Amino acid sequence: MPQTIAVLDFGSQYTQIIARRIRECEAYSRLYPYGTSAEQLRADGVIGIILSGGPSSVFAKNAPLPDPKIFELGVPVLGICYGVQLMGRLLGGAVAKSKEREYGHGTLSIAKPGRLFNKLPRKLRVWNSHGDKLTALPPGFAAIGTTENSPYAVIEDRARNFYGIQFHPEVFHSERGSDVLRNFLLNVCGATQDWTTKDFIKHAVSDIRRTVGKSRVLLGLSGGVDSSVAAALLHRAIGKQLTCVFVDNGLLRAGEREAVEALYGRHFKIDLRVVDASALFLRRLKGVSEPEQKRKIIGRTFVEVFEKSLKQIGKGVDYLAQGTLYPDVIESVAIDNNPAALIKSHHNVGGLPERMKLKLLEPLRELFKDEVRAVGEALGLPREVVWRHPFPGPGLGVRVLGEVTRDKLEVLRQADTILLEEMRKSGWYAKVWQAFCVFLPVKSVGVIGDERNYSWVIAVRVVESIDAMTADWTRLPYDLLQHISNRITNEVRDVSRVVLDISSKPPATIEWE
Ligand code: XMP
Repeated sequence: MPQTIAVLDFGSQYTQIIARRIRECEAYSRLYPYGTSAEQLRADGVIGIILSGGPSSVFAKNAPLPDPKIFELGVPVLGICYGVQLMGRLLGGAVAKSKEREYGHGTLSIAKPGRLFNKLPRKLRVWNSHGDKLTALPPGFAAIGTTENSPYAVIEDRARNFYGIQFHPEVFHSERGSDVLRNFLLNVCGATQDWTTKDFIKHAVSDIRRTVGKSRVLLGLSGGVDSSVAAALLHRAIGKQLTCVFVDNGLLRAGEREAVEALYGRHFKIDLRVVDASALFLRRLKGVSEPEQKRKIIGRTFVEVFEKSLKQIGKGVDYLAQGTLYPDVIESVAIDNNPAALIKSHHNVGGLPERMKLKLLEPLRELFKDEVRAVGEALGLPREVVWRHPFPGPGLGVRVLGEVTRDKLEVLRQADTILLEEMRKSGWYAKVWQAFCVFLPVKSVGVIGDERNYSWVIAVRVVESIDAMTADWTRLPYDLLQHISNRITNEVRDVSRVVLDISSKPPATIEWE
């Protein structure tokens, strides 16, 4: 087991970012609900504790509090924002209620760098977002940094290795914030940086082997990043004991099935079963044009097909593997009047594991997306797979607006292929979140030579985003857009016009249905 840094989650929107920053320093971090007992943390062998920020006031009736015994574990503690106020409250200092939240940039002046600010500039621009603030130091503490608004912006108790910082080092707006966290990990906690891609793969491979023994494992392969990396990792661990199932739902992009067959079947020599269910999906979608209904039909049919193929090929299979990632399994804490922990529902394939009496295997459940990509590259997956844009489960089914037919799908595939080719060739593919075409079920008039051409319209959607929660349309160069449009209208029969989607999310969504 790698050394663990515990991040106690008090509900800050930045908690996951803290964990990621720590892992970027090659130290393993785990998020824990704020009330986790000191005993549990000791049992997990944590070598340092970070108290995250949070939206509460320490004066609130139901203010989330940590187990006070965490301060007796003898491990370093770093309080961030609300975490500092907690330290103030629980360790004998004083905290005052502020009328206004301090929000935005400030200048931090460091009087004594100590271990936390070792080799960092004495003045740093930092990001603040807090209501209450510390007004008297707890015994044993000294202030080592100040901002315009706070004489206690950074505090330390060197003897006990307790630190508190009022600003948010984890956010991008705090200059050298990552280095402050790195100093905490390396200089204060003595982290040995044992969380590298290579170490992860080594541990994961031996864990998988130990768990699985001689059983067979089944994995639904979608061709997306997560299931691809899970396949490569499982294959490294258990070789022929792994069987991958790829369902061709008839809603894939051009060449997608062939690419999966070539990579996993021929290159990795994985036992790959391709189930061609395209006729069934298209039959079920006939005459259906309402988006939610389409999604439901596609989802239900997928579960049905997958389950049927499991029955056929699943003899001796004990495990169903899934490419679940860490953000899907983190227990999110609901702070405010009701600090009850909510557990996100696992989105496994429609309760399939229970119904089929299969055990669930989730080899990527400790990883963030960027870590998954690094693992994929280290396992020899091509860059096109590792850096692929997201593609929705219902596939082109939600990109042909209205009723889905074979002909419309074919038109969309051809247009989409051209868009992706041009995005790759121009280097824009890697710079954007998603780029795709949408088939609009309207006809418009054009001319080819002297002929009137009355045919379909294709919309081009290219967006930038960090997490798909918000998105902005990408300002592609006009020349590139012109080239894409010319190629689509010239090369794809039955398309008379190309339009560009210039809507942001919100209020629009990324997909059109
Ligand atoms: P929207 O359209 O909601 O999409 O802005 C946000 C992101 O989610 C993807 N998406 C899906 N992914 N199953 C998926 O696996 C789905 O049903 C689905 N619908 C949307 C979308 O491509 C975008 O990246």
